[in-house]
Amino acid sequence: EKGGYDYFMLKEIAEQPKAVADTLLGRTDGSGSLTLDEVRIPANVLREVGKVVIVACGTAFHAGLIAKYAIEHWTRVPCEVELASEFRYRDPILDQQTLVVAISQSGETMDTLMALRHAREQGAKVLAICNTNGSTIPRESDAVLYTHAGPEVAVASTKAFLTQLVACYLVALYLGQVRGTKYADEIRAVVRDLGSIAGAVERVLETMEPVRELARSLAEKDTVLFLGRHVGYPVALEGALKLKELAYMHAEGFAAGELKHGPIALIEEDLPVVVVVPSPRGRSVLHDKIVSNIQEIRARGARTIVVAEEGDDAVVPYADHLIRVPVTPTLLQPLVATVPLQVFACELATARGNEVDQPRNLAKSVTVE
Ligand code: BG6
Repeated sequence: EKGGYDYFMLKEIAEQPKAVADTLLGRTDGSGSLTLDEVRIPANVLREVGKVVIVACGTAFHAGLIAKYAIEHWTRVPCEVELASEFRYRDPILDQQTLVVAISQSGETMDTLMALRHAREQGAKVLAICNTNGSTIPRESDAVLYTHAGPEVAVASTKAFLTQLVACYLVALYLGQVRGTKYADEIRAVVRDLGSIAGAVERVLETMEPVRELARSLAEKDTVLFLGRHVGYPVALEGALKLKELAYMHAEGFAAGELKHGPIALIEEDLPVVVVVPSPRGRSVLHDKIVSNIQEIRARGARTIVVAEEGDDAVVPYADHLIRVPVTPTLLQPLVATVPLQVFACELATARGNEVDQPRNLAKSVTVE
């Protein structure tokens, strides 16, 4: 049932183009508009939403962090993202105009379930983004947008994460479409662009051999750091989480702008640092700033592993290892930039002799608080 792969995780990484395409199926059309009638929250309720609050755990939380950039940009509705385990213990401010989005692959994570129960008690509307039909979280929510990743067996989430991102973008774009924003043209363009993402992920997967080779060469290291900015920051957090879960290595993700406020003290000779570089188009100021970050850490001896868009030549002189990802709209970049980091962690875990599908101490779904 591993379909010829050594591990479920490898199979699930390879299934990502299909998972992404299946999650889009029937929800977008060629003209750039979205049909999310299944969400069942009436358009007039969505128009009244004053705040979006996303709750989730682990990898799903990282999808939520990325969603915040998309939701606030396309809808101009304020969005908070919170770890489900923290949410209900701090007396969060919720009312009927709050849309709570609970993201969960399994639909059974107790922390997320308790957070959504608390939100509904306060009168908020809850939309679940979930991969498991009929599980508890969608059953207890006002509405659900299913991700169509298919069953995910490996404990460390890969294809479910990519489909959670797709679902989050759909929610953000749909909210923007229903409410009408000055970004209407951009929204239509991005809906069309989503159609080419599965192909882009496929292309990334075809170029992973050097990443695997690099991972094997780092098997003896103790620490790997990850840096990113804008939507690349949660990608850095996700890259670090994968490495902790699978390779049992000390891995941390930082916002690149924070480097000078602390993390740069960690840089030493030959320390591997993965840097997720934003597109040189769009947010070009951020691109230039991250290029100087790469120079700074390299000057201090770091071994730089740079994930950058095809055609981004500015990074070339400072990259000890360069991982190319296809050109995508800025906000969608995590869909392609996360994939090499999954492959990297999986290969490092294998090189270190770890059990890839069933890492020590972890469970696929945590049904206790
Ligand atoms: C964790 C899993 O315990 O639960 C993670 O090991 C996962 O991989 C997290 O991201 C959240 O799970 P779910 O099912 O709510 O998305």
